[in-house]
Amino acid sequence: MARPPPKEQLKVTTMSKPAFALAFLAVFAACQQEAPAPKRSSRVAEPSGLAATMREMTADMEELKAKAQAGTLTLADVESLRAAHEPIKTAEPTKPEEIKESFPGFAEAYLSNLDALAEALRQQGNREAQIEAFNTVIATCESCHQQHCPGPLDRIRGIKVQE
Ligand code: HEC
Repeated sequence: MARPPPKEQLKVTTMSKPAFALAFLAVFAACQQEAPAPKRSSRVAEPSGLAATMREMTADMEELKAKAQAGTLTLADVESLRAAHEPIKTAEPTKPEEIKESFPGFAEAYLSNLDALAEALRQQGNREAQIEAFNTVIATCESCHQQHCPGPLDRIRGIKVQE
């Protein structure tokens, strides 16, 4: 386990070194919730295949949120992004060593909840049914992230439609 400094101490440190804090945020905002070891802050990398897929998934679902909220999602909306989300099962993560055994199950659950959303739309469900199926997809993002990558959890929760 990493030993992040206590919150107050961290605040003092980052405030006194704004440049470091910025670099730190830019590189580590994605997955890290807590301060990583400083030696890592010099690493600048292309996003992994999985990170790139996640960015696309996030953009797609944020875009669909307003329609889900209004109950105007269409089958075509979901079908058009399904293929782009499929690599969640196979794309290479930044840190394969941090991928847990639960990952494939969550990835399958994500895609099948996406299919369930498509099915709800095929059935021309009402607004409540759309919202419920949409939020179930986002809840799957949340579950996997609680185990794998807590950094984006607030952003993910923000995609849920409040009923
Ligand atoms: C099966 C597990 C799993 C599911 C489901 C999942 N994620 Fe992720 N997510 C990850 C992992 C692991 C990473 C780290 C990827 C990497 O760095 O290679 C990640 C990274 C991210 C990132 C950071 C990407 C970056 O810029 O580095 C965002 C944002 C994100 N996910 C949002 C989402 C959203 C939104 C959903 C649902 C629509 C979702 N995730 C579903 C596991 C998951």
